[in-house]
Amino acid sequence: LKPENSTITIFGASGDLTHRKLIPALYHLFEANKLADDFAILGVSRTEFSDEEYREKLRQLLVKHEKTQPELVDEFFKHVYYQAVDTANAPDYEKIKTRLEELEYLHSTHGNVLYYLSTPPSLYGVIPECLAAHGLTKEGHGWKRLVVEKPFGYDLESAILLDAQIHNFFEEQQIYRIDHYLGKETVQNLLVLRFSNGLFEPLWNRNYIEYVEITGAEALGVEERGGYYDGSGAMRDMFQNHILQVLAMVAMESPAVINADSLRNEVAKVLQSLHPLNPETIEENLVLGQYTSSKVRGIEQAGYRQEKGVNPESRTETYMALRLQIDNWRWSGVPFYVRTGKRLPTRVTEIVIHFKRTPHPVFSQNAPENKLIIRVQPDEGIVMSFGLKQPGAGFKAQEVAMDFHYEDLGETTLLSGYERLLLDALNGDASLFTRSDAVQACWKFVQPILDYKAGLDAKLHGYACGTWGPKAADELMEKEGRAWRFPCKNLTNTDY
Ligand code: BG6
Repeated sequence: LKPENSTITIFGASGDLTHRKLIPALYHLFEANKLADDFAILGVSRTEFSDEEYREKLRQLLVKHEKTQPELVDEFFKHVYYQAVDTANAPDYEKIKTRLEELEYLHSTHGNVLYYLSTPPSLYGVIPECLAAHGLTKEGHGWKRLVVEKPFGYDLESAILLDAQIHNFFEEQQIYRIDHYLGKETVQNLLVLRFSNGLFEPLWNRNYIEYVEITGAEALGVEERGGYYDGSGAMRDMFQNHILQVLAMVAMESPAVINADSLRNEVAKVLQSLHPLNPETIEENLVLGQYTSSKVRGIEQAGYRQEKGVNPESRTETYMALRLQIDNWRWSGVPFYVRTGKRLPTRVTEIVIHFKRTPHPVFSQNAPENKLIIRVQPDEGIVMSFGLKQPGAGFKAQEVAMDFHYEDLGETTLLSGYERLLLDALNGDASLFTRSDAVQACWKFVQPILDYKAGLDAKLHGYACGTWGPKAADELMEKEGRAWRFPCKNLTNTDY
């Protein structure tokens, strides 16, 4: 299915996200012949560029960082335009209006416009208002859709306020809150794994699952984004959105059908069932950490407080581990241990389902519990571990694994998260975008943690770059007789 012709209007057109993610994603979709027969991309930001200057700047970045085909690059940039606008100034939007009319004529877009907000969050409320003041949000003549980047709000109160502001000018079905983790093939595959196999779902509950682990580890530090990150931290940057969405896919009930409403009803329900944290129980369930300077493979790495744009006395967490519970029939009593952090030994996102052990150990040596490991990235795939007899005398069990790699599917090229989600928004499919009630449920759950970390007594543990986070995070598991799994390709733990 190809989308209808439209103009993709990107606010924040000279920003990092546009350069690194959006333009490459649109180019790849164009190359794969997945975009509309005709379309325009209109970049909007404050800096003055002519169309030609803007195209040239993007072209250089694109060919430097992506594999491209020169004739297609030329063709692609014929669709790209630029308009300098002071985004906070309503009268300036007259220029956007004129430009959209011109592009409608040139590219037969029939009035369809996708607005993409890739600006600082402070403009998320302002832009819809200014667009509406010029009649640019009304449907009737073509569709109008709004894609909003994260962070959607800064806490529960600001998220509710932002939602109300946007809803003054756009209906909920016009709003696409993007969480690029939902665009990842392996996150979507969780639904197929669970709901198209008779094998797993009967076991997917408190009767057979002992606990669940979710790890979202990154080897990178905060890079050039110290200023933003220092006001955000792991809790707002990764946990409130990406990790909780992944958790929802692991824990939700089966939707009756796969469509935007049905799917998102189930996501919202499970997020609304998260067991609320309270000030008395937070400390025993939460570990916050911050990376400190140290040598990794002989190279000195700066600590978080030495990073550009970061307050030298910052108490922002770059690591968090949390034990949480879901209050519903399926999950009652099953702990979910979740961790995410920067400057850990490697980049890996994985989910581990630990099944219950056999009721009685009959062999002289028993295998550990069965595990289902879903590797979201990199080396996307699924590992199932189980016990088999060690060859030879006696009955000793050892752990073995069945290991599936997505790359074994051969020809398949996986669309990146941004490619998939841009295409869905252009096709009007909101299934993989977060709905207002789910976003608020996430903030509601996270709010006591935000309150806790804002307090002077919040514990913040240091951890050396290149390690798996603070010791206290290990203790979170150890006190319940468990340990974090070392995420690595096989089950031998020797990769790191
Ligand atoms: C972004 C965060 O949303 O996700 C970054 O702001 C983080 O801090 C990134 O690095 C991780 O995304 P991915 O796709 O590389 O796992």
